Amino acid sequence: MTTQFQANNKALTLAFTGASGAPYGLRLLECLLAADYQVYLIISSAARVVLATEHGLKLPSGPDAAHKALVEHLKCPADKLVVCGKEDWFSPVASGSAAPKQMVVCPCSVGSVAAIAHGMSDNLIERAADVVLKERGQLLLVVRETPFSTLHLENMHKLSQMGVTIMPAAPGFYHQPKTIDDLIDFMVARILDHLGVEQGLVPRWGYGQRS
Ligand SMILES: Cc1cc2nc3c(=O)[nH]c(=O)nc-3n(C[C@H](O)[C@H](O)[C@H](O)COP(=O)(O)O)c2cc1C
Repeated sequence: MTTQFQANNKALTLAFTGASGAPYGLRLLECLLAADYQVYLIISSAARVVLATEHGLKLPSGPDAAHKALVEHLKCPADKLVVCGKEDWFSPVASGSAAPKQMVVCPCSVGSVAAIAHGMSDNLIERAADVVLKERGQLLLVVRETPFSTLHLENMHKLSQMGVTIMPAAPGFYHQPKTIDDLIDFMVARILDHLGVEQGLVPRWGYGQRS
């Protein structure tokens, strides 16, 4: 019997790359799983270094072991999270015939921006982004670097012209954050809004208290 592929509308590809801002990615993953999304997660080698440096989370390089560590860390249900290897070309995210139509790279290094802007497809993150672009899906890059060079800006401009949403990891302060978690939630709330995922992480502009 052949297994029938069933498109899952509540499925999304999420990539962690090696820019600063690992806690944004983890919180986004947590919120997507809580919203009952099937998440295909791809983690670059540099992202694992950043996760350990910024969050003290040492993820094993193997996808199965990384899956186990993340489920334990986030205390999330195991079945909705699929951790894909960097060269797992048989993953659904590697083909337009099966890939989710939405993808977020959070945090996104300027190296990954360059690779995606030039269609490198040299690892599964770049390939999955290329698939979303060719299928005219929704691609969000939560880029973190400062300052930006002309090259970074040119690459982001190129992607923006192709319909990619460039969301710099630049939280606002108008919700009067008290903690780092408040700042993280600000960014994650904006990402979830763009994805069309319901969220109530941060009061919306015009609905909160005026000071
Ligand atoms: C702790 C740490 C923080 C880093 N922060 C950034 C950053 O904020 N932005 C960036 O573009 N690269 C940053 N880098 C460098 C990238 O990780 C590096 O360019 C890497 O090759 C990116 O590869 P990837 O996009 O495949 O993850 C950082 C590296 C480390 C170890």
